[in-house]
Amino acid sequence: MEILHISAECYPVAKVGGLGDVVGALPKYQQELGNFAKVIIPAYRTRYYETHEFDVVHQGGMWMGHSWYHFNVMKERSNELGFDLYLVDIPGLLDTPGVYGYSNDTERFLGFQIAVLDWINEWNHLPEVIHCHDHHTGLIPFLLNYGYKYDRLKEIPSVLTIHNAQYQGQFGWDKLYLLPGFDLWKSGLLDWGGAINPLASAIKCAWRVTTVSPGYLEELYENANGLEGLIRHEQAKMVGILNGIDSLVWNPASDNMITNDYNQDTMQPGKQANKQALCERFGLDSSLPLVSFIGRLVGDKGADLLPEIIGKSIHELPGEVNFLVLGSGDPHIEWSLQQLRNSVSHGFNLHIGYDESLSHQIYAGSDFLLMPSRVEPCGLNQMYALRYGTIPIVRSTGGLKDTVIDFGDPGGVGIRFVQAAGWDACNAVRRAVELYSNKEHFNTIRLRGMNENHAWGTSAQSYLDMYSKLK
Ligand code: ADP
Ligand code: GLC
Repeated sequence: MEILHISAECYPVAKVGGLGDVVGALPKYQQELGNFAKVIIPAYRTRYYETHEFDVVHQGGMWMGHSWYHFNVMKERSNELGFDLYLVDIPGLLDTPGVYGYSNDTERFLGFQIAVLDWINEWNHLPEVIHCHDHHTGLIPFLLNYGYKYDRLKEIPSVLTIHNAQYQGQFGWDKLYLLPGFDLWKSGLLDWGGAINPLASAIKCAWRVTTVSPGYLEELYENANGLEGLIRHEQAKMVGILNGIDSLVWNPASDNMITNDYNQDTMQPGKQANKQALCERFGLDSSLPLVSFIGRLVGDKGADLLPEIIGKSIHELPGEVNFLVLGSGDPHIEWSLQQLRNSVSHGFNLHIGYDESLSHQIYAGSDFLLMPSRVEPCGLNQMYALRYGTIPIVRSTGGLKDTVIDFGDPGGVGIRFVQAAGWDACNAVRRAVELYSNKEHFNTIRLRGMNENHAWGTSAQSYLDMYSKLK
């Protein structure tokens, strides 16, 4: 089967969060299962782009309103990723150092989608499935069906995966003129709440819609940032498929981003050595339990609760616990965390920024990984933590609920709490500190987590099974 994944991110080419990890891994595993998977993303000016060679495979141009853009589709030459990687270069739109956050993101991702469709239109053998990820690619299912230029592509089944329904990419109808010509009678399929809503449009027009965990799908029926009614209406074509992790990239036994490799047999000394290195770097006491947070510093991740959770825990458990935070995002949360670090003499440090190798070292060197998320469609951090023998402390929501059983229950591997509130997270931290003091129990739980299998195999197969039923 030939599958084309269209996305805004793909690790290691361009990654902001879990979307990048998933699109960098799923195609590789689909390929291993005997399929032909391709990935196309924008040609941002990332390190990967600057250090690899590409061949131009398609050239085109487009009017977006009154502006003319030239574009190239380029294929990465070495095929080192385990699938074919294509990048869309649009000078003036996509040649940015970053992925998101520009004032013209609407035009950038619209241009990307138009260029991708123009390229597919030239293929001799069309793909069997077009798999779109999140709202940045959400207009594709609609345009495949109703765009005048893409008549040839009408029969290709399209799939949308919702990685996060909080972000929908809406823009006003005043920008309709940016879209390529389509059957105006179908305009309603673009609309949600009086705006053009790419995520809503894809939910309406894709042949199948998946969410990145079954638990998240259940939640979306009740709470989907305004799309609940639509998701309930389209229930028949929705399915939740849990993400996996790339067990080649995320493997403590062969990870060149950590100071000491280890496996189940060498877990205790291995993790201790990594913890030592981490604590030395951040001025923390390696004899105390280390609770870390890695992620975007935004309300959805519960990052605004961190100052309270950390401040209160250090106050109530003086000299008994350490915290480390890696992340960036909301300037106010960054500021609050910096203030907290300046006000406590020990027990807490942070690194504001994005640092892939430091994240690996933190998964390896921490005892616990805290995820107080308000919304977590799947969450990959908790699965990376488990693989590295680090016990996840999670709020019971979405994919976290699907992947982390509390250690108080049979087969448990983590610590769960229910309320997105500082006090409940603090209770969970207290349980973590108690668990840490019982070394035998602590090691049993860590090992149990390491022995779990969250690799892509089963989920990659679930996607293939779903594709095979599309026609
Ligand atoms: P989301 O995609 O919502 O941010 P996920 O849990 O799915 O959440 O994935 C987050 C990914 O981004 C993980 O690979 C995590 O390690 C990584 N990550 C998040 N913030 C940082 C950071 N500041 N530095 C390095 N890696 C980070
Ligand atoms: C989104 C979600 C996250 C999920 C990731 C990969 O960014 O916020 O929970 O793990 O996509 O699917």
